[in-house]
Amino acid sequence: MPSILETLDAAFREAFVAMGYPKQIAGVQESARGDAPFQCNGAMGAAGIAKKRGEKLNPRDIAGQAIEALSTHPMIETMDIGGPGFINIYPSAEAVSNRAAELVSDENLGIEQLDPLSIIVDYGGANVAKPMHVGHLRSAVIGEAIKRLYRVQGHNVVGDVHMGDWGLQMGHLISELEIEQPNLPYFDAAKTEGYPSESPVTMDDLARLYPQASNAAKNDKDRMERSRVATAELQAGRAGYMALLGHFIDVSVAALKVGYGNLGVEFDLWKGEACVDPLIPAMIEELKAKGITEEDDGALIIRVEEENEKKDVPPVMLLASSGAVLYHTTDLATLVDRKAVNDPDLIIYVVDQRQALHFEQVFRAAVKADWYKPEQLYHAGFGTMNGKDGKPFKTREGGVLRLEDLLEIMNDAATKRLTESGIGAEFDEAEQKEIARKVGLAALKFADLQNQRLTNYIFDPERFTAFEGKTGPYLLYAVVRIKSILRKAEAKEAKSGMINAAEPAEQQLVLALDAFGRAVAISAEKYSPHILCDHIYKVAQAFSRFYTDCPILAGDTPEDVKASRLALAELTLRQLEKGLNILGIDAPERM
Ligand code: ARG
Repeated sequence: MPSILETLDAAFREAFVAMGYPKQIAGVQESARGDAPFQCNGAMGAAGIAKKRGEKLNPRDIAGQAIEALSTHPMIETMDIGGPGFINIYPSAEAVSNRAAELVSDENLGIEQLDPLSIIVDYGGANVAKPMHVGHLRSAVIGEAIKRLYRVQGHNVVGDVHMGDWGLQMGHLISELEIEQPNLPYFDAAKTEGYPSESPVTMDDLARLYPQASNAAKNDKDRMERSRVATAELQAGRAGYMALLGHFIDVSVAALKVGYGNLGVEFDLWKGEACVDPLIPAMIEELKAKGITEEDDGALIIRVEEENEKKDVPPVMLLASSGAVLYHTTDLATLVDRKAVNDPDLIIYVVDQRQALHFEQVFRAAVKADWYKPEQLYHAGFGTMNGKDGKPFKTREGGVLRLEDLLEIMNDAATKRLTESGIGAEFDEAEQKEIARKVGLAALKFADLQNQRLTNYIFDPERFTAFEGKTGPYLLYAVVRIKSILRKAEAKEAKSGMINAAEPAEQQLVLALDAFGRAVAISAEKYSPHILCDHIYKVAQAFSRFYTDCPILAGDTPEDVKASRLALAELTLRQLEKGLNILGIDAPERM
């Protein structure tokens, strides 16, 4: 069922076509200001066209004709002309109430279900043993939202964490472990099988070994060479190293599952760079056979620059002169793997914008190889989360931020805020803790998602956790408030019924709810969760006005009005919860 806006849009376009103008000029949109919910600006464009045809018609005359033509439309209460010829449109109360009833009975709440595409979202991107940086956090939060946006439209969407587990950091870990424990069986070059099934290292060991090695290698050429050699031998398939890598990956995945789980982020695939390595030799042969590779100073490359382009796009590096495979190579091999396994219509990479050139290069190579069409590959980049100094956020000690530390900062800020405002003070400690956790997480995620993806923003836990303004906690509060109203209604045995949107605040609420499908569609199409954030915030505000103007359970509210308002509250709750769920945000039962 179309939204009211869609119905009006079609009607106006049709009317303008009947008047002899192209339908493109006559779209209906939400009004940015004024009382009318909708407007059509088609008369302006039509007057321009009329003038070219040598007819003298001013926009107000044309607007008058359109109004005349649509005067008996069943969904329109009135129309008037503003300014030079804008048509203001007021839908009828009946149309609004009918639309509310449709939304109530639609399990998708107005989200259009599309022909299912097969989609992969590549996000998360944490590296084995390296602590996660804020880029990984944003990728997880935005990627999860984009994945869910496409899922609610009916697509088949798979999320892949695409772990970094195949580069120099592996060589660092292996060589550092060998320095510490040279007698482990993994380092015996003569041995090729029968390694222990228990990991020789824990996550803490990995987190210690990696910086130890990389710091040592910074100032010591020989130490660096050891890591390089270990990387090359690993990539050449040395059995002991492969066995170690298996342990590193298992230990890291277990830790990452906990970390991402705490963030409410779930992956369907826990693949990484290492697992596509076996595909590389055949891939290189294929690329060579296609004649798109070149030798360049001992390295194997694919040139991807286009004629007459202004920017400088360097070639894709398939093999370094040492024979090592690189970041380009594993991403290309992953594209080969995905084509064979998932045959996706679309792959969305949610990765820091600073990697834009990398993806541009990889995508061009994949298109040149004829594996994908350009429109099947999209890099949804994002800006950085900065500290108050305007630089990518660092811990007080200047280190990279660990996810668990970030969550603790948010948790503390939420606890402080809740205590100050006395919210939830009457609940037991366990519940208070759970509320603080949810408020902290909602604050962080909403603060991140409500920005345009590409803008940088400043990490400000105090502002993020405010209960007023466009924040996660404000939205949780809206949800909890409705839940509490519905509990009270239940206790009074009040039931919801037919919606009759009589009051302005009721109509405004329905019209706000009716924009959900649109918000989801545009958010997904533009890979832009902030559009959905705006929508949810508007709904929460519209509910707040409705709740102020339209008493629900007050003694003198007539039964049918009570039932209608309860139905509106229920519908609002369903939509807020669904919208927040798409954003990966969970609300408490009460607070
Ligand atoms: N591991 C990479 C990093 O830390 C991010 C991976 C992004 N995904 C990809 N397919 N390259 O920078």
